[in-house]
Amino acid sequence: MAGAIESLLVEDRIFPPPQDFARQAAVSGMDQYHALCAQAAEDHVGFWARHAREQLQWHKPFTRALDDSNAPFYKWFDDGELNASANCLDRHLGTPTENKTAIIFESDGGEVTSVTYRELHDRVCRFANGLKSLGYGKGDRAIIYLPMSIEGVVAMQACARLGIIHSVVFGGFSAKSLQERIHDVGASLVITADEQVRGGKSIPLKPAVDEAFAMGGCDTVRKVIVYQRTGAAVSMVEGREITWSQLVDGQSSECPPEYVSAEHPLFVLYTSGSTGKPKGVQHSTGGYLLHALLSMRWTFDLKPTDVFWCTADIGWVTGHSYVAYGPLAAGATQVVFEGVPSYPDSSRFWRMIARHKVSIFYTAPTAIRALIKACESDRATHPTQFDLSSLRLLGSVGEPINPEAWMWYHTNVGGGRCPIVDTFWQTETGAHVVTPLPGATPLVPGSCTLPFPGVDVAVVDETGGEMPNGQGGILVIRKPWPAMIRTIWNDPNRFKQSYFPPELHGFYLAGDGAVRNKQTGYFTITGRIDDVLNVSGHRMGTMEIESALVANKLVAEAAVVGRPDDVTGEAIVAFVVLKGVRPTDAAAAAKVAKELRDWVGKEIGPIAKPKEVRFGDNLPKTRSGKIMRRLLRVIARGEDITQDVSTLENPAILEQLKQVL
Ligand code: WT7
Repeated sequence: MAGAIESLLVEDRIFPPPQDFARQAAVSGMDQYHALCAQAAEDHVGFWARHAREQLQWHKPFTRALDDSNAPFYKWFDDGELNASANCLDRHLGTPTENKTAIIFESDGGEVTSVTYRELHDRVCRFANGLKSLGYGKGDRAIIYLPMSIEGVVAMQACARLGIIHSVVFGGFSAKSLQERIHDVGASLVITADEQVRGGKSIPLKPAVDEAFAMGGCDTVRKVIVYQRTGAAVSMVEGREITWSQLVDGQSSECPPEYVSAEHPLFVLYTSGSTGKPKGVQHSTGGYLLHALLSMRWTFDLKPTDVFWCTADIGWVTGHSYVAYGPLAAGATQVVFEGVPSYPDSSRFWRMIARHKVSIFYTAPTAIRALIKACESDRATHPTQFDLSSLRLLGSVGEPINPEAWMWYHTNVGGGRCPIVDTFWQTETGAHVVTPLPGATPLVPGSCTLPFPGVDVAVVDETGGEMPNGQGGILVIRKPWPAMIRTIWNDPNRFKQSYFPPELHGFYLAGDGAVRNKQTGYFTITGRIDDVLNVSGHRMGTMEIESALVANKLVAEAAVVGRPDDVTGEAIVAFVVLKGVRPTDAAAAAKVAKELRDWVGKEIGPIAKPKEVRFGDNLPKTRSGKIMRRLLRVIARGEDITQDVSTLENPAILEQLKQVL
């Protein structure tokens, strides 16, 4: 990785915004960008307050923009009242957007269903009225465990409409992960589907809910609503479980929004941290929606004629800000896709861009790298074989994009004419934090460039002192911003400890390392500084995977590290000490490895399965018993150990762990 980072630092290709793009852009040119930053620097709170008034529809205007009396538990626009769903749907009624297509849904099999803003509003209202009829309302928590679908968006919007706090669980998470989230958030409602369909295969969802219930700890749940995606036979508990269509049947298409304080939690979304248990990141209604919407206008330069496509699942924050909320608040036409980029073949994305005339395309580097690989072996899936002339802007999110992938994306997908916005942000930040603005920022492949106006990002040392450009440090945000995480659900102390360590004097700690270019001040993210891995743009805690492994009856001890991977960014490597004897031949090792991988798949989800499992009689430890992960990382990469190993209790173990069976 060190080599890769160095190559980023010497990257000298620069791509200024194309003139015709800049001319029509919301933020046109660096002068305008700097002017926005200057306004924010001069009056940070006033800057956000002005945009909050301009961008959002308030039922009751706020009188105080920021309350920092209980920092770091900041409150924005606290005494103002609004409703997120009204800001996404009702605001467009009676305007030309009312009859515009809101969502173009393409199923895994390729069928297309579209809804206009009016129709979406009506569907959200009917579903919300159904929820109301069951007695749900403001402050209740709902788990949403649904596939990518119009229904997924409707469920989120309907919750928001009633002030129900939703917590979406990615369909790829296991029953166990689902159970933990139901329990932690204290959900009284679960909204799920019989099955999800991806890559031509049906994957059960309702049975996973049943399994989660069987594990116990879900007694808070009163009702389960089941969207019949495939019509597969699933068990339904009489009185507790009803189908989606039963719920909406006969419901009115008008449902007055429940106006809530801007600080009312809109959602809780679980994400991995450096300790074992995922944390429930709690977001607000007003501040969150403001930044989601403003980034639609500034980062994506959204115009009324655009067709926007963010490929993220609603189970991740990207699918919240840039599928369920931002595009709708902005009145965009967007594509929602049920399937995967490799089915029926790896031209799926390109075919869909051509078919739906997508103009703004936002995806993850891991997808790009996988598609590069695929088209190298099958030329027919190469993007240049398709009419991608509708594209005018590309985006990247979730992990660093390497300059090679950036160039390929720019040339072959963007035809050399589309700017690429490499957006750095996190579940906790709510929306873009460091990103180019496409009509202004000259682009450098592999750099997320400069802060979003109004977000005070800096690179500092361990005590919060700013690093000079050219020297690496840790990424912090020095002032509160409206879309920031409010707390960790049920764990305010963990919130303070994780994000506001005392030595940083009130700065928000992102958990990433970064360096700014000497000349341009551009940011390059150098990767996580904690025990968090990024696998295919998915955040995974090493401790979380270790806890899952040691919960297996065969395992005595386990350590998990990341290793760079061409396609997935990082790959998970597990070092395992078994309770019984260490397998020494390839067949025996493969058998146990498979058992453990499947186990992790069940404990967390398939995305957490280690790519490689290695076995040892022990793990490299210091005399005080601390596992030397640093050495394990070197071994996982297949590199020679050059570090001093004299503090190791058991240096002989290294040879054993180096063996690949
Ligand atoms: C972590 C956050 C952002 C929404 C999806 C992921 C990494 C994210 C970039 C980028 C380099 C990036 C960071 C960050 N990351 N975007 N453009 N360049 N790294 O959200 O699951 O909360 O993960 O993803 O390491 O901390 P998340």
